[in-house]
Amino acid sequence: VPPPNDLPRYDILRTYDWNYEHAPAAPALEIPPFPGRWDFCGLPVDSPLGIPAGPLLNSRWIRYYAALGFDVLTYKTVRSMARPAFALPNLLPVRTTALAENAGEVSAAIEGEAFDSWAISFGMPSKDPAVWQDDVAAARSALRPGQVLVVSVTASPEPGWSIPEIAADYARCVRWAVEAGAQAVELNLSCPNVASAEAEVFLSPEASRRTAAASKEAAGRAPVVLKVGAFAADGEGDRQREDFLRAVAGFADAVSTTNTIPARVRGPGGEDLFGGRRRGIGGAGISERCFDELRRLRLASERAGIPIRLIAVGGISSPADIRARLDAGAHAVQLATVAMLDPAVALRIRREWNLCG
Ligand SMILES: Cc1cc2nc3c(=O)[nH]c(=O)nc-3n(C[C@H](O)[C@H](O)[C@H](O)COP(=O)(O)O)c2cc1C
Repeated sequence: VPPPNDLPRYDILRTYDWNYEHAPAAPALEIPPFPGRWDFCGLPVDSPLGIPAGPLLNSRWIRYYAALGFDVLTYKTVRSMARPAFALPNLLPVRTTALAENAGEVSAAIEGEAFDSWAISFGMPSKDPAVWQDDVAAARSALRPGQVLVVSVTASPEPGWSIPEIAADYARCVRWAVEAGAQAVELNLSCPNVASAEAEVFLSPEASRRTAAASKEAAGRAPVVLKVGAFAADGEGDRQREDFLRAVAGFADAVSTTNTIPARVRGPGGEDLFGGRRRGIGGAGISERCFDELRRLRLASERAGIPIRLIAVGGISSPADIRARLDAGAHAVQLATVAMLDPAVALRIRREWNLCG
């Protein structure tokens, strides 16, 4: 049976709050099996197909995508305090020019133009912890065996906070997430949307080590995933990757790469959008750059003698993309942008995977 192509989607013309309240109802569909034996950081799963932090705003969105062939469901990043979302646009379609460089520049798509990439600008909103804890419990009970709930967390540093204070804020969220029912936790160590100390934790080995260590302790037996951004595109990046892996060795069950590629966004007349600040780009345009990060992290882990599971994220959309990343040593693959644009994508991937053998 071909997958349906009229499934409801996130509405990018409406606010984060509107979309939070209007998650689609989960359809009852038959899910083609994904052959093989799979686990997510040691937890048995039916496939390596997942959604990274972002598209799943709450338990109802998790229920929706869990019914559409995704088995590793990541709850969008939460904080130790409530935080509103940025104003619209939160998702601005951009023209796909291969975004090779970290400090790239992209043009907004014109109205009606087909697109497969966008600038992401949410500012990592969060509900109050009491609200998200109840909802994490609801998300957990919505999943079946063979599916795993990951909760993504970040810190909300005040100006002047020390590294141990930032690490403690991450760990607080980790503890609350696990108490609420998270089977694994992810630390968002990179967010190019927020110009503050938390933006670049992964580029500081000391901050990464402290944060991972405190969070690992808070997580108990739940696996801890570290989500990172792109390291430097030149030779300096190789040193950064090794330093990062050495710093977090023993405190991480996996590293997830890559959390968007930041770029300046220009309007149709060449004007700066988002006040000239860079935004994270997601979608097909970042695919090659993110795949390169995966390969380079793999090489860095071999050079440093630190084996670590790697989760591939960024511009993944087809069975060929998935095959290539698994062949390159990825432990799991996660799809954000394409899953929002085409909610049936995992059903399509499973069907083609089975047809091609
Ligand atoms: C709507 C949206 C919201 C996102 N929010 C988060 C977030 O809260 N935390 C995070 O770590 N990454 C967030 N991301 C980044 C994704 O997890 C992913 O790293 C990125 O989009 C690249 O994957 P893609 O090319 O498949 O979109 C978000 C992405 C999208 C599209």
